[in-house]
Amino acid sequence: MGAIAYLLVFCLAVGLAAAEKSDYCLSEIVKSDERIRSHGYPAEAHTVVTEDGYVLTLFRIPYSHKLKNQNEKRPPVLLQHGLFSNSDCFLSSGPDNSLAYLLADAGYDVWLGNARGNIYSRENNIISINSPKFWHFDWHEIGTIDIPAMIDYIIDETGHSQVHYAGHSQGTTVYLVMLSERPEYNEKVKSGHLLAPCAFFEHGSSFIFKAMGPLVGTPGGLWNQLLVDTELIPHNNLVNRVVDNSCHLSNSICNNAFIMFANGGYVNSNASSMSVLIETHPAGSSSNQGIHFLQLWASHEFRQYDWGTKKNQEIYGQELPPDYDLSLITAPTHSYSSNNDALCGPKDVDTLVSKFTHLTEDHRVPVQTFNHLDFIIAKNMKELVNDLVIERINSYEGR
Ligand SMILES: *[C@@H]1O[C@H](CO)[C@@H](O)[C@H](O)[C@H]1NC(C)=O
Repeated sequence: MGAIAYLLVFCLAVGLAAAEKSDYCLSEIVKSDERIRSHGYPAEAHTVVTEDGYVLTLFRIPYSHKLKNQNEKRPPVLLQHGLFSNSDCFLSSGPDNSLAYLLADAGYDVWLGNARGNIYSRENNIISINSPKFWHFDWHEIGTIDIPAMIDYIIDETGHSQVHYAGHSQGTTVYLVMLSERPEYNEKVKSGHLLAPCAFFEHGSSFIFKAMGPLVGTPGGLWNQLLVDTELIPHNNLVNRVVDNSCHLSNSICNNAFIMFANGGYVNSNASSMSVLIETHPAGSSSNQGIHFLQLWASHEFRQYDWGTKKNQEIYGQELPPDYDLSLITAPTHSYSSNNDALCGPKDVDTLVSKFTHLTEDHRVPVQTFNHLDFIIAKNMKELVNDLVIERINSYEGR
């Protein structure tokens, strides 16, 4: 019964998203840089243009006003958000708890990435956002094009030869994609920190997999034809209103498509942080990103997008999409995962760890209720996650 209700809501949301052009108005929201400044920190907005024309916004906290360390050595750290998300996810719990501020106060130069397609990166110099071509990408391109472009930009801008990287959810997937597909970037990553790492989905317990997986997890079906190359749950009031209504029907669904999606309870959640997030979430992404994740759930493999045997043959020269070769990742990498993660749970992390030959550390959060979104909104995430990340990064800096 629950699953059917979920399915209905999700299909409605996707249908509406496809039918309605996104009505997101940037001038009406508090953007990441304004949010940062409102807490007293200096903030900058930078744009990076990718080789295929996407204009990405990087926000930056160059130093901490508390340390007044603008003239000292400040190693750069790049923070990368998850699916349906944006740079606000590392800010929503404020200076005492969110990773971006904690890193700034630990003496780092903090850069916040925004992947193509989200509210801060909705421009392309060649393609109009109204063209389906704009949405013809998934996290493979974010990993092979966007993140490398951001890293090169940061290296250029700061004069440091390496960056530290921390990603949440899809922000971990794109890290794995980058370093396996473009292994030359291993040298540019001083250390990597994967919060809720997502590569394998065989055991994903979220309703999303059961509701959508069978329909869109395999190529060639009608659903794929309908959904491919479109925007997936953009931030618009209509989508939020539909999901909001469903909240009164079932307590297990919160009032936001983004929050609902992660599906893991609210024991550790900071409600104020959630309400900050809701202002700019869901933040926009291509349907292909969701389809690609569902394909991984169906195939049990971590591999490239499946276009069906015929098109795969043309693109990849083989019938099945090629695997991402995790043994090529040599940058020092720490994984932080949790037991109650309905999207990227402990068994799937086991699979990742077994294939990630050079993984430096496999840390499991000891609180059993800790879930997928808790890595960005839990009341206890500072002690359980962020402090550890900073301690690890410090160790690479001899601090
Ligand atoms: C919860 O979030 C609010 C809003 O950002 C923040 O002010 C507060 O410090 C957070 N508290 C904890 C314990 O995370």
